[in-house]
Amino acid sequence: MCGIIGYVGGKPAVPFLLEGLRRMEYRGYDSAGVAVLHDGALGDCRAAGKIARLEAALNTTPVTGSCGIGHTRWATHGPPVERNAHPHRSQDGTVAVVHNGIIENANALRVLLQGKGYQFRSDTDTEVVAHLVQELMNGSLEEAVLAALREVEGTYGLAIVSSRDPGKIVAARKGSPLLVGIGDGEHFLASDASAILAHTRQVVYLHDGDVAVIEAGGYRVLDASAAPRTPKVDRIEWDQAAIERGGYPHFMLKEIFEQPQTVENTMRGRLIVEDGTSKLGGLNLSHEQLMAIDNVIITACGTSWHSALIGEMMIEEWCRLPVEVEYASEFRYKNPIVGPNTLCIVISQSGETADTLAAMREAKRRGARTLGLVNVVGSTIAREDDGGVYLHAGPEIGVASTKAFTSQVVALALFALKLARKRGMSVTRGMEIARALHALPAQIQDVLDRSEQVEHIAEEFKRAPNFLYLGRGANFPVALEGALKLKEISYIHAEGYPAAEMKHGPIALIDEMMPVVFVAPHDAVFDKVVSNIQEVKARKGTVIAITSRGEPALDGLVDYEFRIPETVDLLMPVLASVPLQLLAYYIAVKRGSNVDQPRNLAKSVTVE
Ligand code: F6R
Repeated sequence: MCGIIGYVGGKPAVPFLLEGLRRMEYRGYDSAGVAVLHDGALGDCRAAGKIARLEAALNTTPVTGSCGIGHTRWATHGPPVERNAHPHRSQDGTVAVVHNGIIENANALRVLLQGKGYQFRSDTDTEVVAHLVQELMNGSLEEAVLAALREVEGTYGLAIVSSRDPGKIVAARKGSPLLVGIGDGEHFLASDASAILAHTRQVVYLHDGDVAVIEAGGYRVLDASAAPRTPKVDRIEWDQAAIERGGYPHFMLKEIFEQPQTVENTMRGRLIVEDGTSKLGGLNLSHEQLMAIDNVIITACGTSWHSALIGEMMIEEWCRLPVEVEYASEFRYKNPIVGPNTLCIVISQSGETADTLAAMREAKRRGARTLGLVNVVGSTIAREDDGGVYLHAGPEIGVASTKAFTSQVVALALFALKLARKRGMSVTRGMEIARALHALPAQIQDVLDRSEQVEHIAEEFKRAPNFLYLGRGANFPVALEGALKLKEISYIHAEGYPAAEMKHGPIALIDEMMPVVFVAPHDAVFDKVVSNIQEVKARKGTVIAITSRGEPALDGLVDYEFRIPETVDLLMPVLASVPLQLLAYYIAVKRGSNVDQPRNLAKSVTVE
C-alpha cells in the first residue's frame, strides 16, 4: 500500500527520501515520486514502476534541496502510470501533495475547481487537494491546508509542501497512519516507522484529525480545530536488524523460520502452565466483565480472518460461548446484533486495515467492548481498542502473512484459555492445553528442520495450474490459509474447502491433474477425513497429506506425506500451517515469483 516519506533539515533531501521509500517497498506499490523545495522553487520527479526507475530519472534530471516529500503509490484511481504518480502539483506549480487514502468527494471537488479554471493532469483523487490548497492559500501553508481539509471528505494521510511558504512540510491524518520523527536540527515524516528508524527512534504518532507542521528546528501538532496539541513522544524499540532479511533470500522465508521464536514471544510472561491459564495484562476487562460476556464477534480480513475461524472454535469449545466470525468488510455495513455484553475481538497484523478499523469502530458505536489482537505497536486499532493483546511477532515484512498468523492463533488460545478457566474449565484440562501451548515452539522447530521434504513436494507440483486444499474442524481454516498463501505468491489458482463439502461440487474438478492437499492430522475427525481422501483417490486425484503419525489407514491412499508433531486438536493449526507456508513459498520461488512483493498485493490495506 502507498507509503509517505518527508524530510526537512540541513542535508540533501533526495537520498533520504529514496532510502525511506526503499524501506517501505515491502508494502507494495506501482509508481513512486519526490518533490523538493530549493531556493523558493519546487522541483519534482516521478516514475511508473520500481524505485530504481525513479532513481534513474533523478540521475537524468536531478532535484535538489533539503525539504521534500516522497511517495510510493499503489493504484486506486487511474492506472499506475507516471501522470498518476505522486506528488501532484497545483495548477500554478507552487503546491505539491502526496496522499494515502481516498478522497471520497473528489469528483464534486473536481467539477468545482474546473469551474474556477483549474485543469487536471491526472486521474487521481489526490490532485484536487493540490489545486484546493493553491486556491485557499492566503497566508501560511497550514492555514490553507486546514481550510482545504474542511472541504474534503474521505480518508487521508497527506504531506504537502509549497514554494509560497518554504522550509516546512504540512502533514494531515484522517484514517491513514502518519508519524513525525524527531531529529537534531532535522525532522522526518513517514507513514511507516521502518522508513525512518535508521535516523531516529523518537516519534509522534499523529491522531485522526491532526495537522502537523514540520520544520528543521521543530514541529507543531494542531488538532482538527487548529488548536495546538501537546503530543506524546514515543520511542520505537524495534531493532533495525529485525526488519532486514538476516541472511535469508526472502523476508517470507525468514519470517516462516522465525516462528519458534515469535510464537514463544507471543506467550512470554503470559502462559501459566502450573495453573492451566494465562495472564493478559492489556485486556482491560474485570473479572465481572469477563463473566458477563454473552457472546463474541470476531472480525478481521484475509489471513487474520482465518485465525478468527480457529479462535471461534476455541472459544465455543473451551468457554461454551456463542461466537460469530465476520469479514470486517461485511460487518461494517451490516446491521449486526450487538448487546452491552458483546465482546468484539478485532484481529489485524498491521492494525491499520481500513475495513477492520471501520468494523471495530462500528462495534464500539453499537456498544460492544472491543479487544484488539494486533501486531504493530502503536497502530490505529491498537490505540482505539478498549483492550488489547499484542502479538509480539516483530515486524512482518513479507506481504504474505505467516508468523503473524501463528501468533494470532496462539494469542486467541491464550485468551480463550483464560476465559474458559474463569467460566468453569477444570484445572486439569487447562493444564493440558497450557502444556501443549508451551510445547509449540519446539514442535514448530521440528517441522522447520524437515523443510527440505516440503521443498521436494514443491518441485513435483511447481507446474500445477490448480490446487485444492481440504480439511475438517480446526483444519478447515488451515486449508483456507494454505490455499490463500499459494495463490497470492505463486498465482496458482487454489481453493480451500471443508473436506466433506467437496462432494457437493468441487469433486467435479478432480482428475489425475488435480493435486489435493489434505490437512489430516490425527484428531477427532481423522477417520472422516480418510473417507474424503478415498473419494479423491477413487477419482485419480493426487493426494498430498499433512498427517501426524504413521497411519495404516493412509497406506496406499496418499501420494506424498508430511508429518507434523501431535498436540491438542485446536492447536493443530499452528503446526499444520507451517508446511503449507513452506509449500507455497517453495512453489512460488521455483516459478520465479517475487515472493515478498507479489503482484497487485499490498502489505497493509488502508483503503476500503
Ligand atoms: C495474506 C495477507 C492478507 C492480510 C489482510 C489483513 O497473506 O497478508 O490477507 O491478512 O490484508 O491484514 P491485517 O492482518 O494487517 O489486518
